[in-house]
Amino acid sequence: MKIDVLTLFPEMFEPIKQSIVGKATEKNIIDINLINIRDFSKDKHKKVDDTPYGGGAGMVIRPDVVYDAFKSVEKPNAKTIYLTPQGKTLNQNKVKELSKEEHLILICGHYEGIDQRVIEEINPEEISIGDYVLTGGELPAMVLIDSVSRYVDGVLNDESVKEETFTNNLLEYPQYTRPEIFLNRKVPEVLTSRKP
Ligand code: ADE
Repeated sequence: MKIDVLTLFPEMFEPIKQSIVGKATEKNIIDINLINIRDFSKDKHKKVDDTPYGGGAGMVIRPDVVYDAFKSVEKPNAKTIYLTPQGKTLNQNKVKELSKEEHLILICGHYEGIDQRVIEEINPEEISIGDYVLTGGELPAMVLIDSVSRYVDGVLNDESVKEETFTNNLLEYPQYTRPEIFLNRKVPEVLTSRKP
């Protein structure tokens, strides 16, 4: 799966270079491409935002820079997602659905958001990761990448995915490992009576 991320803060994506998603990118199962929206600014100071028409606090990201950044990665088969608190809340069914896509383009807003005209032009699916407001779409994009990656073939071992289906996806049972007794707490007998 190819994932293009349009962001003003590509450095924020260091954490997903670790652990399971990191290994999947090393094995080329997932190809994460970070695109700095600022690189598309035509301003000599590389400015990407401006004050909102009508007044109000904060800055709004200009439509032209986002559009040019999007055009640089757009492909006919790509699914484009805008991470925004106004979007539909992400859930496990949506995660599974997205894992079947071959190419995702994730747009991360920051500040007060992105000029509405480029959102209308690109017409992405709008996704929120919960009913709270973050400073930008970068953490939500990482949440989406992490949750979707788990379902991409070859990222987890087959057993983990099969076991998850068996336990109805979300409700995992408690897990235990060695030592058999920890601070006077014993691993449940039903588990120790059969060999692992
Ligand atoms: N950007 C800011 N807050 C967000 C949220 N809760 N979900 C998705 N994108 C966001």
